[in-house]
Amino acid sequence: MMAKNFFKSSSSSSQSSPRSEGSLNDDPDTPLTGGLSEEPKLYRLPKYYDIAFSRDVSREIDFYIKCFKRYCGFEVKRILEPACGSGVFLLAFPRYGYQVVGYDISPEMVEYANEKIRRAGLQSMAKAVVGDMANMKFSEKFDAAIIAINSLGYLQTDDKLLSHFKCMSESLVDGGLYIVELSCACQNIENERRPDETWVAEEGSVKVEATWRPYRYDTTKKLRYVNFKMKVQDSGRVFELEEEHVLRLWYYDDLKKLAEESGFSIKAIYTQEFQPVPLDSKITGELGALYFVLANKV
Ligand SMILES: C[S@@+](CC[C@H](N)C(=O)[O-])C[C@H]1O[C@@H](n2cnc3c(N)ncnc32)[C@H](O)[C@@H]1O
Repeated sequence: MMAKNFFKSSSSSSQSSPRSEGSLNDDPDTPLTGGLSEEPKLYRLPKYYDIAFSRDVSREIDFYIKCFKRYCGFEVKRILEPACGSGVFLLAFPRYGYQVVGYDISPEMVEYANEKIRRAGLQSMAKAVVGDMANMKFSEKFDAAIIAINSLGYLQTDDKLLSHFKCMSESLVDGGLYIVELSCACQNIENERRPDETWVAEEGSVKVEATWRPYRYDTTKKLRYVNFKMKVQDSGRVFELEEEHVLRLWYYDDLKKLAEESGFSIKAIYTQEFQPVPLDSKITGELGALYFVLANKV
């Protein structure tokens, strides 16, 4: 089974597993076997990330293209993707005629994405470079940008998100769009409680079993703690990884304030089913992961 909602912590997740539910306030010092790391090792292992998190993004691409047409006053040609990972969108956008540049903090992800681009013969349309969302900006401007599956959560502080939004604003043309996919914090923190997601993915001689388990929410520091486990069987070799991912619990008011301070305005919000959410409604994690359509300097 392939999990559809990985990283999209929200009360509306339909994925379930027989494993135990995470408590909202598990002891943060509880030792976890295998050791924890601050820099997720998952992102240093692009081959297995790519298998575990592979997915068909054609419906998302259709949605992004509709947004470009609806909310941009010009034709979008060049797209930027922060936190591009192993490059699922870098491979997909060129097939619809768009040029795309992605960046990621993990050099391994970048190398892997570029190798996939090279093998697909898409070097004139796509590339990945190494960069940190907190400060990466480009002199050459883009028409639009996207960031997928809660990756903004890896920016844990207001200062870092503000710096990121400012860099994005400078890297986009005026009127350009930044479409952010993110699960906001739930209004009622109890609603963050949800089943773990466990899934198995296979490709060739590789089998990956993964579990994504949000287990603690710190509403003071606004952080979400996730225990991630992965068991890999690769041509007879077996290894296991267990680590903690600490993600910012973004409240909508914080997100909106920092986006607006950086020159963006929120044009629209859509659900995972690509249905519009009225801008005057209460935007919380109870709505599930959402797409925020931000427009630059308009
Ligand atoms: C959930 S993965 C998403 C990857 C890809 N966008 C996708 O849809 O499959 C999150 C990615 O964010 C990257 N990342 C985490 N912190 C980052 C940072 N500060 N700057 C740039 N990339 C970062 C990780 O290396 C990882 O590849």
